[in-house]
Amino acid sequence: SAEDDNSPNDEFQELQLQTLEQGMSWDGQPLVKYKGFWLLAMIFLPMLSARKNFKAKDTDVIISTMSKSGTTWMKALTFSIANRNRFTIDQSPLLTCNPHTLVPFLEYNVYWEQENPDLEKHSLNPLDQFVSQRHFLLENKIGKEADQYPLGVDEAFDMFCRGVHSWGPFWDHMLGYWNARSENPGKVLFLKYEDLKEDVTSQVKKIAEFMGFPFSLEEEKQGLVDQISGLCSFESLSSLAANKTGNNLNGLVKNSSFFRKGKVGDWTNYLTPAMAERVRKLMESKFEGSGLMF
Ligand code: A3P
Repeated sequence: SAEDDNSPNDEFQELQLQTLEQGMSWDGQPLVKYKGFWLLAMIFLPMLSARKNFKAKDTDVIISTMSKSGTTWMKALTFSIANRNRFTIDQSPLLTCNPHTLVPFLEYNVYWEQENPDLEKHSLNPLDQFVSQRHFLLENKIGKEADQYPLGVDEAFDMFCRGVHSWGPFWDHMLGYWNARSENPGKVLFLKYEDLKEDVTSQVKKIAEFMGFPFSLEEEKQGLVDQISGLCSFESLSSLAANKTGNNLNGLVKNSSFFRKGKVGDWTNYLTPAMAERVRKLMESKFEGSGLMF
């Protein structure tokens, strides 16, 4: 959009946090609305710094996800694919470190304290997401402690549908990346958590190809694709001490909270068919004509 043409540099100088629309997430975390999305206020400045200063190299791989959509899994898989010639499976750093320690976040890690860090020092279905996010936030208690927070599930779900939650609205992310992929298929790989769950082997091969490191026939014969998929599986990662203890995201969250159930469709245990219908209708009207199926 025309708004996107502003240079982040100018924005950084001119924008005052206070001038933006303010909100509060259902768990009591301050939000600001920026370019149509509700951001956590605490990552606003790091996010602007990243927009202003981050210069991608041709070899960079950026994983872009909505939180609670399989970020941890994607980090583990891409790390394993890219580093498969450096570490054998039984020496993988994933066995001793949480995936977020190995593959940092731009906002929570790289640009958290410094406006222009030395990058060389750094290695770098909506309903399920809502349910996953709710468990994650209730477990980590990042939000403000007050009588009214956290809000109950009905109110929180209403806010989710209105897009008032961290990084909301969800559907605008999906559509944004879908359109980016249509415009530039060689640079954007559009993946759904559900697709990874259905057939991780073929998705791992697809990711490797996209990253420019396709598996050779010999590697496939050695079973490397299955070994990487196995190492990065929910069962494998969630059973490691590195993921059962310790914290991440600058100490804000427990490593263990990144591994809850890892199942598609868990929302049916928490949300009503009427709630699902509301989201289905929202997405239908949002995605109309885009070719994006959900
Ligand atoms: P649930 O809360 O539904 O179990 P993110 O990594 O973006 O924060 O997403 C977290 C969700 O991905 C959680 O979903 C978590 O259990 C699931 N998850 C984490 N690691 C996984 C893995 N290796 N394989 C499959 N799902 C995984």
